Amino acid sequence: MKLSGPFKQIVTLNNLPLKGKLNDESLQIVYNGGIFTKNGKILEVNDYDLLKQKFPNSEIDLIESEQIALPAFVDAHTHICFGGNRANDFAMRNAGKSYLEIAESGGGIWSSVQHTRQASEDNLVDGILERVNILLNQGITTIEIKSGYGLNVEEELKMLRAIKKAQAKTKATLVPTCLSAHLKPRDFEGSSEDYLNYILDEILPKVKEENLASRVDIFIEKSAFQPEESKTFLLKAKELGFQITVHADQFTAGSSRIAVEVGAKSADHLEATIDEDIEFLANSNTVAIALPGASLGLGEPFAPAREILDKGGILAIATDWNPGSAPMGNLVTQASILATYQKLTTAEVLAAITFRAAYALDLEDRGVLSEGKKADFITYETDNFQNILYHQGSLKPKNIYINGEKI
Ligand code: NIG
Ligand code: FE
Repeated sequence: MKLSGPFKQIVTLNNLPLKGKLNDESLQIVYNGGIFTKNGKILEVNDYDLLKQKFPNSEIDLIESEQIALPAFVDAHTHICFGGNRANDFAMRNAGKSYLEIAESGGGIWSSVQHTRQASEDNLVDGILERVNILLNQGITTIEIKSGYGLNVEEELKMLRAIKKAQAKTKATLVPTCLSAHLKPRDFEGSSEDYLNYILDEILPKVKEENLASRVDIFIEKSAFQPEESKTFLLKAKELGFQITVHADQFTAGSSRIAVEVGAKSADHLEATIDEDIEFLANSNTVAIALPGASLGLGEPFAPAREILDKGGILAIATDWNPGSAPMGNLVTQASILATYQKLTTAEVLAAITFRAAYALDLEDRGVLSEGKKADFITYETDNFQNILYHQGSLKPKNIYINGEKI
């Protein structure tokens, strides 16, 4: 039993709806608060002095400077298992070169596939842990990680095994996702439909057998997989027992609709989503995940986050950290920038990187500070929680707690 506090403000994020817009008046703030934890879970968040009286024998984690506390963040979409570097893609793109010219000069997703195939499983583990630590220092304690740079049985399993090995070496929660359907690899002989069947027949059964992932993702796009074949693939993956998530509407509209139709947990990207599909998505329980890091990396529009919320949808924000389209990997910076362009309230942004993101990962045990939830929370040395987004990511957390323990 441990009491952490006193905190000038605790932003609990309690009692907020899963769906739709949020105004800042709806935020529950506990002033001079304490967080009382037991066995890694939150027992009570309340006035610090009151908790001290109520639980006189608890261990005290005394906070001596002025700090605020809030739930730890969740990054629900990353590709941080990879080899190599694509700085040349970035430079070429900004020098005006086309997608095709970049691919022809050895860049693009295929270049990351080659570098990832060349890396050993242990190399990949090291790279994952390095990036996990960067995310942890930003207050992110739950991190989704996709495969998708292996693109054959052996190499996809290598990536997923590396994520599993990394999990054994970090206190952060890593959520693996099988993205073998990222691209049809150049060395696969057959159609894209053949490749999707190969994933269903050869890769997913092994993923299941070794318990390497319970989620399946696909990139539906003109340059990757087409709508109809993707839908068939996703329904079959679902039959195998996998949860679904989709790279949807990044450049071409239409695939967020498929995500909703197959009951996906989330539809991610949405830079090109058209009005009627926003409505369709907002009326579902599929989380709309905006990836501002990809918009910033590619110079593409932002996802229509404001409209999604106004129409009653569930909005989450994630980094999409990957070597190509989104190399930054800074969630708070990206969420703050999205907020200024899309006019998102502080409550909407905080919800999007905590409990709404956790919902997309089927982890409803975290993301708010209330009784029974996982005691993952972070503190900032500042006198007002508004300063977090105001500084657009340059204010860093002071302390990070996982299961009630400072890491
Ligand atoms: O989410 N859109 C497809 N996949 C990634 C990009 C991966 C890469 O460029 O390596 C994304 O943006
Ligand atoms: Fe992505």
